[in-house]
Amino acid sequence: MNRGSFNTRLGFILAASGSAVGLGNIWKFPFEVSNGGGAAFLIMYLMFCFILCFPVIVSEIAIGRNTKKNAIGAFEKMGKRNWNFIGKMGVLCGVLILSFYTIVAGWVLGYVVEMVSGNFSIADNFGVYVNDTGNVLLYSVLFMITTAFIVSKGVEEGIEKAAKILMPSLIIIIIILIVYALTLPNSIDGIIFYLVPDFSQINLTVAGNALGQAFFSLSLGMGMLITYGSYIDEKNNIINSAALITLTDVGIAFLAGLIIFPFVFSSGIETQGGPGLIFQVFPKIFEDLGPLTGTVIGSTFFILLSFAAITSTVSLLEVPVSYLVDEYKVERKFSVWIVAFIILLIGIPSALSQGKVAYFSEFITYFGHDKPIDFMQFIIDVSNDTLLPFGGFLITIYVSFVWKKRNLSDEISKGNPSYKGSLVEKYINFSITYICPLILGSIFILTFLNKFFGI
Ligand code: TRP
Repeated sequence: MNRGSFNTRLGFILAASGSAVGLGNIWKFPFEVSNGGGAAFLIMYLMFCFILCFPVIVSEIAIGRNTKKNAIGAFEKMGKRNWNFIGKMGVLCGVLILSFYTIVAGWVLGYVVEMVSGNFSIADNFGVYVNDTGNVLLYSVLFMITTAFIVSKGVEEGIEKAAKILMPSLIIIIIILIVYALTLPNSIDGIIFYLVPDFSQINLTVAGNALGQAFFSLSLGMGMLITYGSYIDEKNNIINSAALITLTDVGIAFLAGLIIFPFVFSSGIETQGGPGLIFQVFPKIFEDLGPLTGTVIGSTFFILLSFAAITSTVSLLEVPVSYLVDEYKVERKFSVWIVAFIILLIGIPSALSQGKVAYFSEFITYFGHDKPIDFMQFIIDVSNDTLLPFGGFLITIYVSFVWKKRNLSDEISKGNPSYKGSLVEKYINFSITYICPLILGSIFILTFLNKFFGI
């Protein structure tokens, strides 16, 4: 059976960066930065992306290309059936992420409509808006249908084509918005908050969140890159591809901050962290721009967000779909629609958890904490901040001690003849054996205990 493959190297890079660049960069990153004290968080995030995550990206892509299999099948193909639990955990994690992601994407899509109709007062009614469950679910379903439609077309005709159209448009919209944001009065205060670090803000919680954010933002730790890597050929230079994906993702998160903080500070609105940040702050700013400019800039911004989100949801859906297609020979179209439907159902409690249903809104209180958190935050804590870094940790252990570094080097050098013996090789090998397992492992354990048990 033909599993499909990316047609061009650029296609793969765009699709993988498209997966990386998403709500994580533009919706989640800003509120993580403001909760984490601004530049202090930014610095940790950047360090984690380049030092800890880069070797994991390279490893995932190499495993995928070597086996030409999905996230679970890859481990079996390598004869390490016992290790396929890494893939299983990854598929589960992807399903969880996509379930809440689709709800947030539904908010975004709904906001495009609100901005087009000039309804800026929505900013004050965000709490009411997210509890209009019928409306939110309508947009979430629309979003999921679009995602499923793209994935059902397959790797080249669906995923690659969509990325080739959406990614360049995204970059153009971002540039327009930055130029605009930097011309606003007081934008400099925002830049200072964002770029001048206050190191006293760094603590374990901030480090744990920065690590979770790095993994989430790079779509790492759950086999997404194993899956996409399985659709590329031997000529692909994995190191260069991984570098481009990291730079694009980090670059766009960084640029999003350059748009958002000047906007926030010039509006004089207090930086209120939390998932509502962009939804509560932005429409107010757009309103001040006057009806015409406000509508244009406002709808452009939320369209940007929808574009960014869709290339990410596509990649999240592809992971379980590819597993069903490879391992159970289920027809692609059929598995796409079934998986999409199940994930929508799992997403419903998240949609109800923003105040609508008390049970989901005050879902659980972790040991040693006094405030309950809602269902959506619980899923975010479990998937992003726990399963992803843990998955990344296991992948480095797997590569260095089970698959062996020699095989990793062989795989990478197929598209990169000068790799063996190079400094990059030494660095990757050293870090997947020592730095990644040690640091990933310890931050993971510490934040896990801290988050869930208040230790
Ligand atoms: N990286 C995406 C974002 O920043 C989200 C995402 C897409 C993701 N695919 C993933 C996160 C796989 C983890 C794993 O919005």
